[in-house]
Amino acid sequence: MQPPIWDAEQYRQRHAFVFQSSQDLVHDWLAPQPGERILDLGYGTGELSARMAECGAEVLGTDSAASMIGAARASHPRVRFEVQDAHHLAYSQEFSAVFSNAALHWMKPLPAVFAGVSRALMPGGRLVLEMGGAGNVQVTLDAAEHALQRLGLPELAHPWVFPSTAALAGLLEDAGLRVERTRWFERPSLLPGEDGFRAWLGSFGGGWLAPLSGEQRREVVREAEAFARPHLWNGSGWVSDYCRLRALAVRP
Ligand code: BEZ
Repeated sequence: MQPPIWDAEQYRQRHAFVFQSSQDLVHDWLAPQPGERILDLGYGTGELSARMAECGAEVLGTDSAASMIGAARASHPRVRFEVQDAHHLAYSQEFSAVFSNAALHWMKPLPAVFAGVSRALMPGGRLVLEMGGAGNVQVTLDAAEHALQRLGLPELAHPWVFPSTAALAGLLEDAGLRVERTRWFERPSLLPGEDGFRAWLGSFGGGWLAPLSGEQRREVVREAEAFARPHLWNGSGWVSDYCRLRALAVRP
């Protein structure tokens, strides 16, 4: 299943928390050094790639979404951005580090991605990642499942992978990487606006609900919002139950 067509401006306005809340992943976990070559897998709007470049690293950002590249290039001229499918990385021992924030959960199946990452790293090179972990956006997943059932519509498998710490460590080890550090944590995340839940499901869930007609999608989103409201609406805003999983792994 393809991810939705991203709109860079909407992403920046509505989902800025995705890169704002992961600045420490760059500065504390990755700690880019001048002259290092770093591959940023799934750069999004390119904000974190730019932080790495400001540290003096030479950064290549790749993303499968062609719709984001123009905005990223215009905003961050110091970074090279390319459209690329992370399942087919063709690099061999070229990077000091590979970095990924909030992108790997879109990249099912993960083994091919981690095999390519492992090949791309120089010996001693590191992978630093953050992605949705076990339990991520569970209320939204339950809400959509409930809505589909209630409306008599077929089950739709969601497009994401949210591994447990143990499952992720196993995948990284299978790719030949040594896991040095992991962390799973909750990050309740504000979805701005009264329509925050609908907007999230409409944009991130666009590919997931694509087999439905326009009218069915609208009904599913309405029904799912009603299910989610007692759990995620705090009286003034929507707060989604994000769970993050971080890892630092090294190519021996
Ligand atoms: C996340 O960052 O956890 C996420 C974003 C979009 C869809 C699913 C999960």
